[in-house]
Amino acid sequence: MKVLIIGSGGREHAIAMSVKRSKRVEKIYCAPGNAGIAQLAECVPIGAMEFDKQVAFAKEKEIDLVIVAPDDPLAGGLVDEMEKAGIRAFGPRKNAAVLEGSKAFSKDLMKKYHIPTAAYENFDDPEKAVKYLETAKLPVVLKADGLALGKGVLICRTREEAMEGVQKIMLDKQFGTAGNKMVIEEFMTGREVSVLSFVDGKTIKTMTSAQDHKRARDGDQGLNTGGMGTFSPSPFYTKEIDAFCQERIYQPTVDAMAKEGRKFQGVIFFGLMLTEDGPKVLEYNARFGDPEAQVVLPRMKNDIIDVMEACIDGTLDQVDLQFEDNAAVCVILASDGYPEKYDKGLEITGLEQFEGKEDYYCFHAGTKEENGRFFTNGGRVLGITALGENLMEARKNAYLATDWVAFDNKYMRHDIGNAIMEADETS
Ligand code: AMP
Ligand code: GLY
Repeated sequence: MKVLIIGSGGREHAIAMSVKRSKRVEKIYCAPGNAGIAQLAECVPIGAMEFDKQVAFAKEKEIDLVIVAPDDPLAGGLVDEMEKAGIRAFGPRKNAAVLEGSKAFSKDLMKKYHIPTAAYENFDDPEKAVKYLETAKLPVVLKADGLALGKGVLICRTREEAMEGVQKIMLDKQFGTAGNKMVIEEFMTGREVSVLSFVDGKTIKTMTSAQDHKRARDGDQGLNTGGMGTFSPSPFYTKEIDAFCQERIYQPTVDAMAKEGRKFQGVIFFGLMLTEDGPKVLEYNARFGDPEAQVVLPRMKNDIIDVMEACIDGTLDQVDLQFEDNAAVCVILASDGYPEKYDKGLEITGLEQFEGKEDYYCFHAGTKEENGRFFTNGGRVLGITALGENLMEARKNAYLATDWVAFDNKYMRHDIGNAIMEADETS
């Protein structure tokens, strides 16, 4: 088989690694890819949003399966375009990707189908939003409706902050048209868990759980980022919680989408908050998480192509989805200053140390290669993942491996997975 992966980050590198493991695949292309992916696949310089070029390339190379990984091309309908051209594609169609593409849509869906989530109101008029905020309970959460690189969420502790938030999102349009509408929702407290799942339109099979660390600095300080590190599984995601979510959240979401005429086929990422009143949905994503994919996929036992094809063919009920009984931790090596201002183009050394080491992965996010040398090319540069028999061992291994690579403005959090130790103490 010939496979084309769309995207260019650490998530796409992890997907490429999984695809490479499949015995059924003889050739992998990635558009546009990055320097790490180029070691497994042939990278082609076509942007994720250049749909006409993507389709033409897939036709020319007679691609058997296109995997659309990032949110933008999914929300924009790349899967639909591929299908129209007779090419098989993994990922939700445009009318289903709206589950992530519009927070107002997903909140209304949850309300209509009684799926537990924070109480909320949708607004398309800034004046009405301001009026509502005059008496809303604090803290309060403001969310731009559309895609905003994970940055369109403001947690406001004072009324002034909330008013400024309306200004930023709806009037100054800091997140562009994503801020034409806004969700204002109740602030929840609890532990966050990410659960990714494969969905074929009617059947859902959840993958092993993970936890992300979204803030830039240790102790969950600093700005929200795309994610600074992950661990899997989450020790807080118990069998009881899983049973509740399967019954009240996962299957109901898939059924709700089907009832609305928006059959979802692909990956649904459930961002959950484990509150005192039980698990509630923080957000849906219509794709693999990044860096969640970097700890979940290395632990998957199945051939990813078999599972993806079952999602497309509606035969997921026949798949026995299995994960290794081990653990993984991923520490992101970023450029100091991310997510705001940072330098690029700095040489990265030591990457060869990962060669031949089975339980260690160095997933590339923002890198480029020139004449066999590697340079930083983004805010999140590398995802260092290590496996271990348990979370503590995986964590120790991952931090050990962060020392193998060097670049001038290398920055990482030092507390990825510290929560594991809290779990140890409480168990
Ligand atoms: P989202 O993009 O919706 O996942 O939001 C980004 C982050 O903001 C989440 O991972 C949470 O840490 C936080 N967040 C979002 N919604 C809420 C909420 N209702 N209550 C508390 N924190 C929230
Ligand atoms: N790690 C969160 C996301 O992929 O949106």
